[in-house]
Amino acid sequence: MTISSPSATATSARTLRLRVENVIEETTDAVTLVFSTPDTERLAAFDYRPGQFVTLEIPHEKDSSVARCYSLSSSPDCDDRPAISVKRTPGGYASNWLCDNAAVGMTLSALRPAGSFVPSRWDKPLVLVAAGSGITPVLSILKTALEVHQETVVLIYANRSTESVMFASTLADLLQRYPTRLEVIHWLESDHGLPTATGLRNLVTPSPDSDAYLCGPAVFMDLAHNALVAAGLSPDAIHREIFTSIQANPFHTSVADSQPAADVGTPVTAEVEGADYTFRCPPDTVLLDAMLDHGIDAPFVCREGNCGACAFTLKAGEVDMRVNDTLDDYEIGKGVRLACQSVPVSDSIAIVIE
Ligand SMILES: Cc1cc2nc3c(=O)[nH]c(=O)nc-3n(C[C@H](O)[C@H](O)[C@H](O)COP(=O)(O)OP(=O)(O)OC[C@H]3O[C@@H](n4cnc5c(N)ncnc54)[C@H](O)[C@@H]3O)c2cc1C
Ligand code: FES
Repeated sequence: MTISSPSATATSARTLRLRVENVIEETTDAVTLVFSTPDTERLAAFDYRPGQFVTLEIPHEKDSSVARCYSLSSSPDCDDRPAISVKRTPGGYASNWLCDNAAVGMTLSALRPAGSFVPSRWDKPLVLVAAGSGITPVLSILKTALEVHQETVVLIYANRSTESVMFASTLADLLQRYPTRLEVIHWLESDHGLPTATGLRNLVTPSPDSDAYLCGPAVFMDLAHNALVAAGLSPDAIHREIFTSIQANPFHTSVADSQPAADVGTPVTAEVEGADYTFRCPPDTVLLDAMLDHGIDAPFVCREGNCGACAFTLKAGEVDMRVNDTLDDYEIGKGVRLACQSVPVSDSIAIVIE
């Protein structure tokens, strides 16, 4: 089945077509979709890092679509093909559409992998905390940590009941292969009720120099954060991924849609994925808009400050970031900012998008 969608003619090199190679029923309300790219030459365009997400275009009514982000549950270091895992959201459109309609042979439009929920170092013990579908980016990180690196990993995984545990057999297999490096602690609401900070704190005694990666509902991540800080972890070492439905549709925007660039404003030096640019960012204009207006194919997905796809590193100067629902203090401290929300406030700036 081929889904024709408006993005089939999108000009951005960031759009590619993914073919569904396999559909795996993980639980009664979650599926994993394994992909290939129909155009094998573009497989390299699907390079990703553990913890990143892909944005899919889901058909919606005639000639229309919605965009939704899904973390890759596969690991680039261990799995032959990229995969996402989608859990039905009650009353939600795209997750139910995918669970009901995804079939082998179907092609979907996607934006290249993005996101900053990626370990920047692997030489520290890892504490991974996931609830429900929040396991997907965490599983990708977990697999890479075990298969490629040497540190220990503790996974705390909260679910309603045994039946709703995704990847139960994958985790059992990893436990068998890495008995001394991996610890998996299940929190089942059916047995213990809703997670509490004290309950989570009592589950694990992490090494204080651990890095932690959290993904699940905001309230759950707040509890886990407090529990880990109480256990001695630095808040800077605790990273979160927030799952939300983006409102914007990046498949309906391309570089060609942008306004002609005005040659006024703050001088910007930008290295974007290895290419160098200089341009001016007009007053009160966010950097992403200025880059697109100058024909620079800068990455973005939501344009709302909540996905991290447009993250850049500030090398010189200062910006004012309007909304930030995704970067944590550690990343901010390292100079990471969101291009879709950053307005220059110094005489000039220099940025890098890797
Ligand atoms: C970086 C990132 C990674 C993600 N990774 C994953 C992943 O790996 N797996 C996964 O399953 N999900 C993931 N998500 C979440 C995913 O993108 C979707 O948000 C999720 O699938 C729900 O989308 P939906 O279209 O089914 O629901 P939506 O249609 O967006 O609805 C969401 C909720 O809002 C309610 N709602 C919808 N419309 C209205 C309305 N008009 N009034 C009131 N309420 C309304 C619905 O009932 C539902 O409860 C990720 C999100 C992000 C940002
Ligand atoms: S494009 Fe999503 S945070 Fe900027």
